[in-house]
Amino acid sequence: MDLSEVRETYEERGLDVAEVAASPIEQFQRWYQEVSDAGYWEPNAMTLSTVTPEGWPAARVVLLKKVDEQGFVFFTNLRSDKASQLVAVPRAALTFSWVELRRQVRVVGAVDPLSSDEADAYWATRPRGSQLGAWASDQSTVVADREELDQRFGAEMVRWRDEDIERPAHWGGFRVEPRLIEFWQGRPDRLHDRLRYFWTEQNWVIERLAP
Ligand SMILES: Cc1cc2nc3c(=O)[nH]c(=O)nc-3n(C[C@H](O)[C@H](O)[C@H](O)COP(=O)(O)O)c2cc1C
Repeated sequence: MDLSEVRETYEERGLDVAEVAASPIEQFQRWYQEVSDAGYWEPNAMTLSTVTPEGWPAARVVLLKKVDEQGFVFFTNLRSDKASQLVAVPRAALTFSWVELRRQVRVVGAVDPLSSDEADAYWATRPRGSQLGAWASDQSTVVADREELDQRFGAEMVRWRDEDIERPAHWGGFRVEPRLIEFWQGRPDRLHDRLRYFWTEQNWVIERLAP
């Protein structure tokens, strides 16, 4: 697959305040569709940045599982480092880097845990192997070796042999409720387009930023 022409199309087209959607969520969905159509593997991969109570930054990739006007949703182990950080400091940044299309989207917002109903609904759609993995792995803790993990997985397979696998109480999701969303489109001569939406408690305001 040759993506160079796709990239050039976007470099030529650029981003303009007059043409983007009034809602950054709608704009995100437009871009997401285009990235998805271009054949990317896991275009929903995003860097989730959190802050520790001591003020240290922490970043890792997670998968976006839902996005609507309420925000950006992902799932994880609720005893993981990221979950502890989000409980202590409920703020986060998300970064989507679709570099082959010369695109980046940055999101900043407050974070809320999902309800058990929302977590249950997504849990039910997960493949059985992923469900067993969630039981077998105490995410972010130290394990002696790979064998320990494989043994735990095997024990969970035996435990749940013929049954539906329940969602562990320590597995769920979070929603990042955006207050800032920036769209970056690479353009020739480093004169890239940057449009930033910020929420004013009533509506979204759009500004163009210097690249
Ligand atoms: C492509 C990709 C997708 C990932 N998706 C998730 C995810 O949706 N949820 C998750 O908890 N970890 C996911 N991870 C693993 C995280 O990056 C990270 O290693 C893990 O969540 C532990 O992070 P923490 O110790 O900071 O809590 C993903 C990693 C990659 C590379």
